[in-house]
Amino acid sequence: MSLIAANWKMHKTPKETEEYIKRFLEIYQPGEDREVLLCPPFTSLSVAHELLAGSDIKLGAQNCHYEKEGAFTGEISLKFLKELGCSYVIVGHSERRHLFGESDEMINRKLVACLEEGLRPILCVGETLEEREAGITFKVIENQIRLALSGIEEYTDNIDIAYEPVWAIGTGVPATPQDAVAVHRFIRDLLKTVNPEGEIGFRILYGGSVKPDNAQNFTKHREINGFLVGGASLKPESFVEIVNAF
Ligand code: 13P
Repeated sequence: MSLIAANWKMHKTPKETEEYIKRFLEIYQPGEDREVLLCPPFTSLSVAHELLAGSDIKLGAQNCHYEKEGAFTGEISLKFLKELGCSYVIVGHSERRHLFGESDEMINRKLVACLEEGLRPILCVGETLEEREAGITFKVIENQIRLALSGIEEYTDNIDIAYEPVWAIGTGVPATPQDAVAVHRFIRDLLKTVNPEGEIGFRILYGGSVKPDNAQNFTKHREINGFLVGGASLKPESFVEIVNAF
């Protein structure tokens, strides 16, 4: 089953979320064999949860803290997210890594917490332009995945991975489908190595400047099991078009 996820980042107030979801539900049609996920900001989860009740659209958070509760000013735990109807959490997004200093160790702890609480993490990985140009893309991805999965290698069927090359995020310049496919194959083989007993229950999503007019270039390839969409998910019409590409 493919997964098409909207990462709204720091966009949309609760009121704007309400307008979006009402419109989205008017134009969205459930499809066979695909799952649709909205990840609004924390402050919009409550209204989204109410409005999505009765639909097959899933709700997710963009980040989480790994402790259940305590003196962690400004943080949000998985326990809170569960009560608001979240079944997914984006973990280790490139903006968290690069703008907020999230380390591989923190990302690992978040994944452990997600597995404990039964929320499905979408682990984001991706190389910078410098790393790509230096020819170390696969090495960087392997390192990110191995560190993120340290100690939880046997749970590869309980997570999804988003390959988001940093240089493609928000730039309007997506990876070529060929480059994305090569990395997706690499990730799939790596996860098989990490967990030889696994049943390939994970999905590998592509993210980075996915738009309605380029989505189909990716969906042709069986290695691409879904999308993580930023900018183009902010309008219900364009996100529906991307969903329908699957
Ligand atoms: P854009 O689709 O805006 O490039 O963002 C991708 C992304 O970061 C999704 O998590």
